[in-house]
Amino acid sequence: MADRTAVPEELAKKFATEKDWDTPYQRWIRAEGLDIIPAHYIPNLRTVELKPWLRREAKGLYINHEASRTSNDCYVCEIAPGKKMAPQRQLFEEMVLILDGRGSTAVWNDKGDRITFEWKAGAMFAVPLNCWHQHFNGSGSEHVRFVSVTNGPSVMNLYDDAAFVFDTEYDFANRFTGEPDYFTAKGEQKGFLLESNFVSDVVNLPLIYARERGAGGGHIRFNMARGSIPSHISEFPVGTYKKGHCHGPGAHVVVLSGEGYTLMWPENEEPKRYDWEVGTLIVPPNRWFHQHFNTSAEPGRYLAFKHFSPRNPQGVPLSWVSRRKGGNQIDYADEPAIVRQMYEENLARNGLTSKMEDVYRDELTTLPPLKA
Ligand SMILES: [Fe+2]
Repeated sequence: MADRTAVPEELAKKFATEKDWDTPYQRWIRAEGLDIIPAHYIPNLRTVELKPWLRREAKGLYINHEASRTSNDCYVCEIAPGKKMAPQRQLFEEMVLILDGRGSTAVWNDKGDRITFEWKAGAMFAVPLNCWHQHFNGSGSEHVRFVSVTNGPSVMNLYDDAAFVFDTEYDFANRFTGEPDYFTAKGEQKGFLLESNFVSDVVNLPLIYARERGAGGGHIRFNMARGSIPSHISEFPVGTYKKGHCHGPGAHVVVLSGEGYTLMWPENEEPKRYDWEVGTLIVPPNRWFHQHFNTSAEPGRYLAFKHFSPRNPQGVPLSWVSRRKGGNQIDYADEPAIVRQMYEENLARNGLTSKMEDVYRDELTTLPPLKA
């Protein structure tokens, strides 16, 4: 992606030695022998190339970009058939989505509480803060691959001491005390929020109707392991697309079902197109608008691991509020005609027709007036 903000090298040199440029987090990744791919789009997490990660006895790759290296990050990891990873504990939070394979994870604390639970592709869970955890591949012939999002960068940058972050003896009793049902799939639904520590199948998890994001899709939000990483699943029906919106950096969108494309653009610039399929990762840059279009014959569903979102005084994310009311979501009525035309052309190529006419009409009944 071309850098629109480039300045003369002479000016850049005057900032090159500041700590928030080459951060403790970036130095730690290099010391791990891994690469960071500075990407906003990975065509498929299941096939992206990984490097040996000796300390964790696996293969890995970090994916993040300039705006998320100080907030949250993302890594992909693979466990060879019949192998297990080295145990790890950490003073930051982590959410895990299993992309391929099956296996189990053991979680334990210093007090001696220990739980092991099993998972397969499509499972999602969170690691309780500072608990020891170890992942096992349950197959002797197939690899396991997972993607994680953590809030490690802010912690690494704050302490600048890997020994402290990865080797501090302390049990956070408000997060995990060895409850036997900690990693069962049960959970309490409060509004959109599901409080649970384990989802066995994110592709088929029932969702809650949410017309506010456009096209009558389903939505559910998660709080896992009593942590602070926000996450949600959204789904939109065949023949529909979502409303464009923007927010801060750090939203890692993983496609779970369907095929389609996403348009992304900084304000007042031309949108760029990114095609997606199951396994694609899209990380919208800070304040870039983005809009997801389903062009397949099945619903489009994605999981988003996020960082914090700006909210209105009622606590509603501004990406759910119309731009006509000062929010960050573009109503269908305000999008350029080319958006609809492009969508209909792409559907037609797949022998499908748009189901958006009713959606456009419904929106008009609740559309806020244009600002004076
Ligand atoms: Fe978004």
